[in-house]
Amino acid sequence: MIRFLLCAVLFVSAASAADVDHGKQVFEQCAACHGDKGQGGETAPSLIGVIGRKAGSLEEFRYSPAMKRSAIVWDEATLKSFVMNPQGVVKGTRMPFDGLRDGQDAEDVAAYVATLK
Ligand code: HEC
Repeated sequence: MIRFLLCAVLFVSAASAADVDHGKQVFEQCAACHGDKGQGGETAPSLIGVIGRKAGSLEEFRYSPAMKRSAIVWDEATLKSFVMNPQGVVKGTRMPFDGLRDGQDAEDVAAYVATLK
């Protein structure tokens, strides 16, 4: 009985919560620019510690004026909408990424990015 309950709880939480492991797989689409550990580089800013950070605020990266001007402070929700539609959320961003079609992929990748510390 206890086993059954445990399984049910696990099943329900897996179905509703973002899946960080899957997000890690989705992140392979970001890694070409942002680095395999999200560490960033010449082509894209680091995503380590990006949750709670003001958009476009790393000294060492040359952002677009649009990203610098945006009033976004990244959380999982803004990350999710940004990766689904970069130009729609930050018009004029230089992030050359069309956007993820699948909302679950976007939610999962946002949850994974939130673990990059
Ligand atoms: C082809 C390269 C490329 C890919 C692929 C890419 N990005 Fe970016 N990303 C950039 C660039 C360049 C910027 C800076 C944009 C600007 O200044 O307007 C950026 C900016 C960002 C920012 C804002 C960071 C900050 O410091 O404000 C976030 C968050 C982000 N990307 C997340 C992602 C995620 C998550 C993915 C994968 C779903 C992804 N990016 C895919 C190049 C890329």
